[in-house]
Amino acid sequence: MVHEILTLAALSLSADSRTTAGALLLTIVAVESGGLLMLRVVRGQHPMTEFQHAFARAGHAHAGVLVTLALVGQILADAADLSGPLAFFARSGIWAAAILMSAGFFLSSAGRDVTKPNRLIVLVYAGGVSLALGVVSLGIALRRSGPRASSRPYLARSASTRTRRSSLPVGDLGIWSVSSTARTRL
Ligand code: HEM
Repeated sequence: MVHEILTLAALSLSADSRTTAGALLLTIVAVESGGLLMLRVVRGQHPMTEFQHAFARAGHAHAGVLVTLALVGQILADAADLSGPLAFFARSGIWAAAILMSAGFFLSSAGRDVTKPNRLIVLVYAGGVSLALGVVSLGIALRRSGPRASSRPYLARSASTRTRRSSLPVGDLGIWSVSSTARTRL
């Protein structure tokens, strides 16, 4: 009986990353609603000062960009050797920065005819620190984890394996021996 060894092309995410990435994707809708506000501002339908416009644009832009970076960070965190405080900052620093910085830009410029930020500008600086801790921790953890990460089986080889792969449990990454009558996880 001919057995074929398959390495699934599925991306395996830890439970942590799956939960966080799911939540992050949902927050993109909030970024979009910020975008709709920006559209009203730019079209002159929502009057605000030049200062408020600059801060609203920065809030919207930082939210979108940092959520996207945080999504990438979740995948990288799974590939890294994470432990201790490094693990905490590597996993949470970037998404926390997305919240802190955008909240800081919006809240510190809220109000009527505002031309300078209120005390909540501190959130923007806190977000900056959180972002720095997040990317540095993740960077160090990835460099520390070395070849272990790249030895993970991510890719299947041939298109001919696709049909057989479809008989395997969805999302279950691993190496399988598959014949016409049986499948075994190696
Ligand atoms: C319905 C969805 C969206 C709408 C209607 C929208 C609308 C806008 C508008 C009107 C601006 C210009 C603001 C200005 O110049 O004052 C802007 C800027 C920006 N948006 Fe969005 N946006 C949306 C979603 C997103 C998403 C999902 C992201 C990122 C993932 C994003 C990232 C950015 C960035 C980075 C800027 C800054 C560009 C710059 O100032 O150079 N936007 N958006």
